[in-house]
Order: sequence, then C-alpha cells, then structure tokens
Amino acid sequence: MRVSNHPILGPGEQEESVAIIVDGRPVRAAAGEPIAAALLAAGIRVFRLTTRRGEPRGLFCGIGRCTDCVMTVDGEPNVRTCVTPVRDGMVIETQRGEGRWQGNEAD
Ligand code: FES
Repeated sequence: MRVSNHPILGPGEQEESVAIIVDGRPVRAAAGEPIAAALLAAGIRVFRLTTRRGEPRGLFCGIGRCTDCVMTVDGEPNVRTCVTPVRDGMVIETQRGEGRWQGNEAD
C-alpha cells in the first residue's frame, strides 16, 4: 500500500521512483512519499530502538506528533519519518536510543 495523498505532505509524485538505502539495503520508493510509507511498503516495521531497553518502535501517530518513528537520515538523528519525504539517494538507519550526529564520535 502506498500513500498517494498525505494529509501533511500533500499529493505525492507517485509515478517517479527513487532509490534509498535503509540499513545498508537498497529500497525503491515512490518520489515524494513519506519515508515511513516507503519502509512499510518494503516490509520494514522497526524504525528505532528505545534508549533504556532497546525495544523496537515504528509508526504510531503518522502525523508527526509522537516521535516514535524517528530514524537517522543522512547522518541526522531524530528525523520524523512519517512527515519527511524520501529523496533519491537518502541513507536511512535504524536509530538506537537518542541517536548520534554523524561525525561526533569524540563527544
Ligand atoms: S509516527 Fe508519530 S511522529 Fe511519526
């Protein structure tokens, strides 16, 4: 199932396909659709692991309010995937805990 008219992002550009990388794996997505929709269509349900117990979380509210869907996108943690459209070449990673900015390993 694809989201053709998102309540926040508006109508998608469904006819065009883009390539994203999810945890090192190539995934095809419809241009402009929310990252979360592309992941669900690819069978990916776990978007992040909680800080204390490492429990899986995924899509919950779907409208940008709960932050359960946050992932690390192009090195930026805490990106709400339900309201962020895919772009060709995006690199998306399952977020562990609070996430880390790419390149801040010395912190
Ligand atoms: S699912 Fe709630 S903010 Fe994305």
